[in-house]
Amino acid sequence: MVLKERNFTEQDCHLYIISLVSKMPNLFCQMVKKMILILLTVIIITYCIHPGRFAHYYTFIKEEDMVHELEESPLAQKLSETSGLPLCPWHILNESSYSLLYPKKNVTQCDLNELSVKLDIKLGGTWKPSNCVSRFDVAIVVPYRNRQTQLEIFLLYMHSFLQKQMINYRILIIEQVEKKDFNRAKLLNIGYIEALKLFPYHCFIFHDVDLIPQKQNNIYACTHQPRHMSSSLNTFRYNLPYRGLFGGAVAILKSQFELVNGFSNMFFGWGGEDDDFQSRINHKGLSICRFSPRVSRYVMLTHSKELPSETRFSNLLAGKNRYDVDGINTLVYTVRNSTFKPLYTWILVDI
Ligand code: BGC
Ligand code: MN
Repeated sequence: MVLKERNFTEQDCHLYIISLVSKMPNLFCQMVKKMILILLTVIIITYCIHPGRFAHYYTFIKEEDMVHELEESPLAQKLSETSGLPLCPWHILNESSYSLLYPKKNVTQCDLNELSVKLDIKLGGTWKPSNCVSRFDVAIVVPYRNRQTQLEIFLLYMHSFLQKQMINYRILIIEQVEKKDFNRAKLLNIGYIEALKLFPYHCFIFHDVDLIPQKQNNIYACTHQPRHMSSSLNTFRYNLPYRGLFGGAVAILKSQFELVNGFSNMFFGWGGEDDDFQSRINHKGLSICRFSPRVSRYVMLTHSKELPSETRFSNLLAGKNRYDVDGINTLVYTVRNSTFKPLYTWILVDI
C-alpha cells in the first residue's frame, strides 16, 4: 500500500494556529486553577506542621524584665560580705547580640586540652569568677550516652559561654551504661543527687548535650518559676511546638525540684519524661516560664532522629498517680565510675 503524502498547506497552518489560540484561555485557566490548588495545599500543610502556629498565645518574659525574675543564691550576699568581694554585675543581660551563629564543629583534642588552662577550669569542670562573687551557684546536669562528638562541641562552647555570665558552675555528665533503653529523666535525678554531694547548689539546669545556646543574655541561672530555656530552637524553626513543652534545657530551683519529687524514673526510651515533669510542676501549683524567643535561641547539633518509645503515652497517663511515689524519693542506682575529668564531672551509672 502506498501512503499518500499529505501536503500541509498554508490554510492548514492558519487553521491550526486559530484552533490553538482559541483553546489558550481554557488552557491558561486550567493552569492557574492547578497552581492555586498546589499553593493552597502547600499553605495548609505548612500551617499544619508549622510548630509556631499558636505562638501568639504563649507568654514570654520580656528582655527588660529578666533581671527581676532571677533567683540569686542564698549564699552569695553573705559570701560577698565575708570575702570583701563585690557581687558580680548584671551587664550580660544587656548583651543581646549573638554569642555565635553556629558552634565550632571540628573540635580537636588540642582545643580541649588548651581550654582548661586558658579558662582556668578546675578539675571536674567547675569554675567561678575570681574578682567578684557569683550571684548564682548552678549545677548543669547532662544525661549522656554515646554522643562523643557532640559532647566535645558542647564542652568547648559552654565553658566560655558560662564564664561570660559569671556563674559559679559545674558541668556533670551522667552516663548510662549500655544495657537498658536510655532513661534521660532518671539520669537527671541522679545528677541532682550527685551534684548536691559536691556543693549546695541552689539552681539546677538539666541540659541535653546536643543543644547550644546562641544568645549570651540567656543566663544560666534560675528564675522564680521553673524556666524552659530552649524554647526557640532551630529544628522547630525557632518556634514553640506546644505550650507545655519542657524539654531540652530547663532551669529549676533546688527547692522546687524537691517539691515536685524530681523526675519520674519510669520513662525508658525517647519522649514523654519532660511532659510528665511539666505536669508535676503544675500539680504542685508552680508554672513554667520562658524568656523572650529572641533570648531563648538554640541550635541543635545534628543527629539521626530517635525512635519514640511506644509506652510514652501510657506512661504519661499512669504517671499522674505516681508523682509522690516515683521520683528522687525512690531513686535506686549504682555508680560504676565517678571521675573529675578536666572539663566535667563524669558519673557512669547503672540504673
Ligand atoms: C515528647 C517530648 C518531646 C517533644 C518535643 C513530645 O511528643 O513527648 O518528650 O520533648 O515531643 O520533641
Ligand atoms: Mn536532640
